Amino acid sequence: MYTPERERELIEETKRLLSLIKSLDKVSLSEAQKLAESLREVIRYHDYKYYVQASPVISDYEYDQLFRALKSLEKRYPQIITPDSPTRRVASDITGSFPTVEHYSPMLSLDNAYTEEELRDFDRRVREIVGRQVSYSVEPKYDGAGIALVYENDLFKRGATRGDGETGEDITPNLRTIKTIPLKAEFSRFGIKLIEIRGEVLISKEEFRRINEERLEEGLPPFANPRNASAGSIRLQSPAEVAKRKLEAVVYQISYVDPPSATPKTHYEGIKLLSLLGFKTPLKDMRVCKNIEEVIAYCKEWEQKREKYPYEIDGMVIKVNERDLYDLLGFTSHHPRWAIAFKFKPKQATTKLISVVFQVGRVGTVTPVGKLEPVQIGGVTVSSVSLFNEDFIKEKDIRIGDTVLVERAGDVIPYIVKVIKEARTGEEKPIEFPKECPSCGSKLVKLPGEVAWRCINIGCPAQVVLRLKHWGSREAMDIRGLGEATAKALYEKGFVKDVGDLYFLKVTDLVRLPGFAEKSALNLYRAIEESKTRGLERVLYGLGIRYVGLTTAKKLAQEIESIWDLKDMPLERILRIEGIGEVVARSIREFFSREENIKVIEKLERGGVKLKRDKAREEGPFKGLTFVFTGTLDCCSREKAGEIVEMLGGIFSNSVTSKTSYLVVGKDPGRTKMTRAKQLGVKTITEEEFLKMIEPYVDLKQIGREENKIGALF
Ligand code: IVH
Repeated sequence: MYTPERERELIEETKRLLSLIKSLDKVSLSEAQKLAESLREVIRYHDYKYYVQASPVISDYEYDQLFRALKSLEKRYPQIITPDSPTRRVASDITGSFPTVEHYSPMLSLDNAYTEEELRDFDRRVREIVGRQVSYSVEPKYDGAGIALVYENDLFKRGATRGDGETGEDITPNLRTIKTIPLKAEFSRFGIKLIEIRGEVLISKEEFRRINEERLEEGLPPFANPRNASAGSIRLQSPAEVAKRKLEAVVYQISYVDPPSATPKTHYEGIKLLSLLGFKTPLKDMRVCKNIEEVIAYCKEWEQKREKYPYEIDGMVIKVNERDLYDLLGFTSHHPRWAIAFKFKPKQATTKLISVVFQVGRVGTVTPVGKLEPVQIGGVTVSSVSLFNEDFIKEKDIRIGDTVLVERAGDVIPYIVKVIKEARTGEEKPIEFPKECPSCGSKLVKLPGEVAWRCINIGCPAQVVLRLKHWGSREAMDIRGLGEATAKALYEKGFVKDVGDLYFLKVTDLVRLPGFAEKSALNLYRAIEESKTRGLERVLYGLGIRYVGLTTAKKLAQEIESIWDLKDMPLERILRIEGIGEVVARSIREFFSREENIKVIEKLERGGVKLKRDKAREEGPFKGLTFVFTGTLDCCSREKAGEIVEMLGGIFSNSVTSKTSYLVVGKDPGRTKMTRAKQLGVKTITEEEFLKMIEPYVDLKQIGREENKIGALF
């Protein structure tokens, strides 16, 4: 449809228009006409790239800027509006792989506000039409894939994508696999025969990270953001594949009710009704605000909380609460006048890839890291980005000098979503992977079945320094003051070659480190001394055995008396430990079969580091008891409850097995754990019963006190 040359021109034109946007206020009618034509052309092009090719070349924010510029020109000079202007319709995302269905009411998008002033303007317009002050309901704007669900006679009848707003794609079989979409909901109790509900399919940040880690381990390219992951997932052709991804659906708008008289009076009541019937809704994150200033304050509060929220959100949605006013306020061709989205700072931007450096990780993996022309994303300057591995670079065809679209999604690390190939000049250079380790110069190897190049020299300085840093990290031996810089200095001075050497350091050595004085040297010395008794599981984690994270370290520590038990433990025996698979078990064997690692452990022992299981802890009142938790607890988070169990000598686990003593059931318990407990005859107890059990040993009033501030919100 567009030749490469035309695409380059349109991108150049996009840049020019974006740079003009701030000075559009002063344009004359004839200038406005020319600009509007140009804007329409580039917007059509970007619609095509986004919706048809699913391969946008600008960020959503930049697109929005163009769209708004066109709208504002057309508003000032209505005579320049053309019937085919992109402002007159909703862009489509229909791919043609699913049957289409008509929505019961058009699925429009929301108008956007980026500033407080724009929110006040929205409120002014609403009040002008209504003739009085109205209250607003405010909730998160989820960044996933929009859906419309229809229930008839209490049964889930069909689910569709947004499509062009009038018709969407029927993806019912895929949506049926999502556990948060009830297949039956008793709407009839409220006199509702048929209802259409709007919502969003989401992937939590945690699940997103898990999927991406898995994909990286398997050598697949990671997803750019949770939104892409969910949008791609609901359009998979196999519902069985969809079911494998932990998708969730949240519903946030009732868009059609039959009979209309059964419609809840306010938006808030509507959401309450949906929650009551078993849907996942924004209810606990919603607030009804009396006026726009309250709305603004609430939006700002959420802009702070956004990073900690388990789902990706890109703003807040403000809706007039009284649904009676919807008709009066009506719609424009593009969006309803009774709602607006307050958008947070954008998380995507385009910039240039200047160069690539290669970093050696703790286990020798060589990771390419792109250096970028610094760019602001969501209030943070981004100047470097992981390129993961050689396959990622090949797949995306990334070259030095390329213009790239970068995203910083949530607490996820910056990511190159794509290369803007249309902006290439021919000067771009391919990225050459090194043959030798950039730290020690030894030859890099690619092990069978792996995607990453690795340096297998155990004495490689980069790896040694990172292993020291990891040993001192908070989750491992928690040695305050042993950061990367100190680790590097210790290595370079020749004081420390492995973690065992730390325990033979003298204060007189430490004062010789750059930037150290007597006091800091003494502090570090003490921190190292204190770390000696952190316990077996921290040691196992701290050693940095490949694939042995905290959870695995804990499982291992529960099975052995001393670290030496692992030295000759056969593979089959390791594999019998619950939750430890082939890859992990082999890695443990490999670690303990290396002479140099055994020497380090011996050195740790000589240095006085405790390598045996903590008996005192296990003598606690919960000795021999395993607890699993499900659902939300009132007292504290599940992790906190787990800590208490461990403190009392019990075992805290995440999965129900025949060894489980109690399944503690909180609010909204997970079905899997409940069913498994029933099958295995595991005793279930309530939170209250659990609290009774711990009451003699713990001050209940203290539990989760620090946590509650956050815990209650999420
Ligand atoms: S209400 C006409 N509420 O944002 C109003 N939409 O840009 C119907 N979205 O297509 C939408 N969170 O996919 C609404 N709490 C929320 C939302 C939300 C995310 C999405 C939705 C919509 C898009 C509009």
